[in-house]
Amino acid sequence: MGKILCSLIFSSLLLFSLKARSQEVEDERGFDYERDGEKGPVHWGELRAEWHKCKGGLMQSPIDLLHERVEVISHLGDLQINYKSSNATLKNRGHDMMMKWVDGGGYTEMNGTQYKLKQCHWHSPSEHTIDGKNFDLEAHLVHESSNGMVSVIGILYQIGEPDYFLSTIKEDLEVASNTHEEERVVGIIDPNILKMGSKQYYRYIGSLTVPPCTEDVMWTIIHQVRTVTEEQVKLLRVAVHDDSNSNARPLQPIYNRTMQLQRSKDSE
Ligand SMILES: *[C@@H]1O[C@H](CO)[C@@H](O)[C@H](O)[C@H]1NC(C)=O
Ligand SMILES: *[C@@H]1O[C@H](CO)[C@@H](O)[C@H](O)[C@H]1NC(C)=O
Ligand SMILES: *[C@@H]1O[C@H](CO)[C@@H](O)[C@H](O)[C@H]1NC(C)=O
Repeated sequence: MGKILCSLIFSSLLLFSLKARSQEVEDERGFDYERDGEKGPVHWGELRAEWHKCKGGLMQSPIDLLHERVEVISHLGDLQINYKSSNATLKNRGHDMMMKWVDGGGYTEMNGTQYKLKQCHWHSPSEHTIDGKNFDLEAHLVHESSNGMVSVIGILYQIGEPDYFLSTIKEDLEVASNTHEEERVVGIIDPNILKMGSKQYYRYIGSLTVPPCTEDVMWTIIHQVRTVTEEQVKLLRVAVHDDSNSNARPLQPIYNRTMQLQRSKDSE
């Protein structure tokens, strides 16, 4: 009798703690990538008042970089990257893995403004497409100016040789993907080892690709596609706690936005 009562209490306690745990997971994310789910991308704009741009915005990201609509220009010049080694942390945010440079990892200068490197995170498969072509992974390097303007550099990857940056932080990624919402101090990381081509890049004005989908984000998508292994993509994907097995927002309407491809006269 006592045994039965005891196991009853035990199992209801177990049920309670399981429930509390799943609630916690829900609250932490607030949104997910399940196409037909209540919290999926088509509903982001309805989930919270401050996320309304996700639905009604006219400058949303990601987009397809359509060759016939891309204007080739040369006046922007090469990307001005001034990154520096700096203390970094890694965090599993439930919808992605994020590396944050605690005091900023240097800056990039665009259009006469300095944008400080804040963090980088990964989406798989890629969010942006080029002429309808999808890639296996996309890194987003998020920068912010002193007056709060956001500028994101996107790097596209397809399956092939290992990515050096991800190789160097492999062990930290493994630990972070098994933890929950905890910041793990990684130490000094040099953002320069992300190695992106700086001569050819797409430029357009869009938004953050996760809620609150804030607009007026200056986007730079590096033209040169890099490589990553399937294992590296999988390791990053462990962070995504839903069944969709993706953390890529679907393509958004371009409306009448312009897209440019910067290509210096001496490149290629
Ligand atoms: C790096 O940042 C973490 C988190 O803010 C901090 O605890 C740690 O002391 C920092 N380490 C260095 C070397 O600055
Ligand atoms: C670049 O800077 C000029 C002058 O400050 C500004 O008018 C323009 O809107 C900026 N362009 C972008 C894409 O931010
Ligand atoms: C088209 O562009 C103009 C300015 O160039 C802007 O005022 C208008 O809102 C845009 N329309 C749409 C549907 O994006």
